Amino acid sequence: MLQKIDHIGIAVHELEPALELYQKVYGLEPVKIETLEDIHVRIAFLPLGEVLMELLQPTAPGAGRIGQFLDEKGPGFHHIAYRVENIEQAMAACEAAGVGIRDSEPRPGGDDSRIVFLVPADTHNVLTELVERSREITGD
Ligand code: CO
Repeated sequence: MLQKIDHIGIAVHELEPALELYQKVYGLEPVKIETLEDIHVRIAFLPLGEVLMELLQPTAPGAGRIGQFLDEKGPGFHHIAYRVENIEQAMAACEAAGVGIRDSEPRPGGDDSRIVFLVPADTHNVLTELVERSREITGD
């Protein structure tokens, strides 16, 4: 069902100071920074080999799920995202296995991907995203 690790999501208060670490110290280059207003996040994608690091900042303090997460737990590891070829098939396989899906249908993720999140209680408390992409992320 899973093709690869697509990205690792890290919640941060502010992208710019986080980029100081990821870009200037680790040497990773952001290929895309975008704002998803409907879910109140600003996202930076930094490729690391086959995997992307996804830095997530709330568009305002406390806004959206990332803002709530920061208020409750502070910055840090947020989720792992697995690439799937067909998200509807992957959702059906999860449902058939009794793994709950937080989203009733795929919704837009970064770079025109389609994503859903699984119910953490069913994934050993690892917040897990499934992502279907029609293309690899490039800096356009
Ligand atoms: Co993600």
